[in-house]
Amino acid sequence: MTAVKSEVDNTQVRLPYERLLMVLAPVIAVGTVAAGAVLVAGLMGFHREEMFAIAAGIGAALGIPTVVLIYRQLADRRYTARALRNAEARVGGIVESAMDAIITVDESQRIVQFNAAAEKAFRWPRGAVLGQPLDMLIPQRFRGSHAQQVRRFGETSTTSRSMGAQTILHGLRADGVEFPIEASISQHTESGSKLFTVILRDVTERVRSEEMLARSEARLRGILDSAMDAIITVDERQHIVLFNKAAEEVFGCAREEAVGAPLNWFIPERFRAGHNDLVRRFGESGAASRRMGHARVVTGLRRNGEEFPIEASISTVAESGQHFYTVILRDVTQRVRADEALRRSREEIRELALAASTAREQEKSRVARELHDELGQALTALKIDLGWLREHVSAGDGAIREKLASMQVLVDGTVASTRRISADLRPLVLDDLGLVAGADWLAQSFTNRTGVPCELVIGQGDLELPDPHATTIFRVLQESLTNIAKHSNATQVEVVLERENGEVVLSVHDNGRGFAPDAPTRAGAMGLLGLRERAALMSGQVAIDSTPGRGTRVELRLPAPPARETA
Ligand SMILES: Nc1ncnc2c1ncn2[C@@H]1O[C@H](COP(=O)(O)OP(=O)(O)O)[C@@H](O)[C@H]1O
Ligand SMILES: [Mg+2]
Repeated sequence: MTAVKSEVDNTQVRLPYERLLMVLAPVIAVGTVAAGAVLVAGLMGFHREEMFAIAAGIGAALGIPTVVLIYRQLADRRYTARALRNAEARVGGIVESAMDAIITVDESQRIVQFNAAAEKAFRWPRGAVLGQPLDMLIPQRFRGSHAQQVRRFGETSTTSRSMGAQTILHGLRADGVEFPIEASISQHTESGSKLFTVILRDVTERVRSEEMLARSEARLRGILDSAMDAIITVDERQHIVLFNKAAEEVFGCAREEAVGAPLNWFIPERFRAGHNDLVRRFGESGAASRRMGHARVVTGLRRNGEEFPIEASISTVAESGQHFYTVILRDVTQRVRADEALRRSREEIRELALAASTAREQEKSRVARELHDELGQALTALKIDLGWLREHVSAGDGAIREKLASMQVLVDGTVASTRRISADLRPLVLDDLGLVAGADWLAQSFTNRTGVPCELVIGQGDLELPDPHATTIFRVLQESLTNIAKHSNATQVEVVLERENGEVVLSVHDNGRGFAPDAPTRAGAMGLLGLRERAALMSGQVAIDSTPGRGTRVELRLPAPPARETA
């Protein structure tokens, strides 16, 4: 029973004695006063009739108000009793309809009250538990300690407190199943004996969701810690709230030390202001995530003061009105180093290839010149000598004349072959007269060979480029014209050589059958590949624009060489 109810009981117990006293007191008072008056009258020698009259007068004077008073008193009492009964009913109703289980036990820990919520929580009907020991609602292993706790609480003067502040308490249901509860206990004394009231709640759901949360947090922790990338979350003040294992390794800092520390710890001093600005602006941008420092590599700072390149992305979430920023980052020292090594090695290969190509061209040029000069001159001398012999041999010697004539034909053929081989190796016109003359020579020999007109347009400005530019352009034009002759079936070719915005541009356009430049090419087709390689060696590029049936355009762009000294 509750404290309120016990008060009601106490009043009811006191009422009969009081009422008796109330009823009797005025009568006793009236009697006493009347007896006193009669005694005084007797002592003063009044007669009996007068005495009676006086006594009756006094009795009436006192008796009537007394009766009125008694009546009012009784009416008050009845009202109070009714109010108390109502209060009792109200409290009973509250207890009964409470969402929490309410159980009252007496000093011997027997159950004296068990509300509807308690019935529901423990699955016991009220009738089965009233008068029974509380132990039936407590799992076996907690019974001893629980009884002791209640006893100890009874010895204190505290009226109420929550139970099991540190641990979750357990209840035992009728079906033997245990369930976690949260409880508070209060005590009061009723008719001299102590009663304990426990208000408790089944927290199975809460405990389950807490466990689930803990499990999912553990899972998340596991994922975060197994991530290869460092993951750091900071709050609005840019103080670290999450720091995973990879972050520990990358920054050389234990999680315990890092959590709570400002993010600035891990940013080199000179970047701090910029970084804080960046995060603030990112927060204001409303974007959910983005990569940091696309253009450049961001720099991190290890605990030991070492700086290192990182690649990072940032994302943000708002949690109960607070913004959190998560940075996922990777130490890219190795990659930056590898990139650098790769870049250097490419550069070396390029230089080597350029040197090789130059050496080859020089070699070709030397052989071409020797063929032309040495061999060509010797053959010419031979030809002159043969002519002389033919003039000086006697007319009658037909066999010798015939022999000389065939030798002449052979020497002429050899001279022509030597010229052709020499020109194929490297036309002397390129070295002797320059690029424009070389290009003109290529166009002419193309038309001579194929019968297809080839228009050469030379643009404004200086196009007499030095080597290796001249050779590159010459070779690209040579290969393009060869391809047109071999593959295109064109009837018209246009070659344009010009300067454009600091670049030298060669474009070779035919109106032939065209092809699909993206289609896989014949294995061993090195021509177009060679063009690209040559251009790349000179930091230039080749664009091939071709549509089947609509002709082909090969365009070479080279950064213009530094201006030649004009001597
Ligand atoms: N001007 C062109 N017109 C049509 N097809 C061409 C032209 N240039 C190149 N091609 C096509 O591209 C292919 C690759 O050319 P290339 O690399 O020079 O190899 P190759 O000339 O040895 O066949 C050629 O086989 C041809 O099919
Ligand atoms: Mg080719």
